[in-house]
Amino acid sequence: MRPQCLVLEKKEVLFLANVDKTVNPPAPNHIAIIMDGNGRWAKKRGLPRTAGHSAGAEAFRRIANYCRTLGVRYLTVYAFSTENWKRSEEEVGGIMRLLGAYLREAIRDMEKNHVRFRFFGDLTQLDPHLQKLCWEAQNQSSAYEHEVQVNFCLNYGGRDEILRAARKFAADVAAGKCSEADLSESVFSNYLDSAGVPDPELVIRPSGEQRTSNFLPWQSVYSEYVFMDVLWPDFKPADLDKAIEEYHRRNRRFGGA
Ligand code: IPE
Ligand code: IPE
Ligand code: MG
Repeated sequence: MRPQCLVLEKKEVLFLANVDKTVNPPAPNHIAIIMDGNGRWAKKRGLPRTAGHSAGAEAFRRIANYCRTLGVRYLTVYAFSTENWKRSEEEVGGIMRLLGAYLREAIRDMEKNHVRFRFFGDLTQLDPHLQKLCWEAQNQSSAYEHEVQVNFCLNYGGRDEILRAARKFAADVAAGKCSEADLSESVFSNYLDSAGVPDPELVIRPSGEQRTSNFLPWQSVYSEYVFMDVLWPDFKPADLDKAIEEYHRRNRRFGGA
């Protein structure tokens, strides 16, 4: 008897294509990354920290493109935390300039790149010029057909996000729009910066640190964390593949047996 897979009728070819997909399991729908290690990358090379942030911006471009080819629908990246203002004026200024340059480029190319942008964090504390670029990127890209949505966490802190959401909810109660009894997890989620975005299945932190540093505390309660030794500027598509492989080895139970 001939083995079934050699019968090359249309049906079997389709069947073989499906088998291939299970060999390379699909990428998670939503991946979040703490882009850490830029400073150490620069230090190792005797360069200023800002050079590490430039190399980090390149790594972001590379990985965002790769996520699109993998079919990842949401990519959330931690770019600047509410605690990062503690750094020198020179370093903060350098990071903000890089962000501005990236956003101008992204606005120019967004139709071609099929990327939608959202911003998580308190943008009101940013330079007005940078705020304007963020709003432009968000508003213009919402009109395009997109393959991937990038959520930039800028002046973002998970605790700050929860406090701002609590204030907005309290204001709605005070205005008589809803009552305290209406508050549920899903209602509260809609007051967060991430409203409407599904929770990340996978959170990756390169650089060797094993902590979350105020990143997505509400959204990541059931995310799988993968901590990696590579510094963010060195992060390659093959590293993302490794993290996704590790994710697929996990047994996600969500509190069940
Ligand atoms: C992450 O890299 C970028 C930001 C926090 C803005 P770091 O600048 O924290 O790099 P390390 O951790 O000092 O190496
Ligand atoms: C987290 O990295 C913030 C970003 C990557 C934007 P940090 O470098 O600020 O975190 P800690 O200080 O090591 O916890
Ligand atoms: Mg760091």
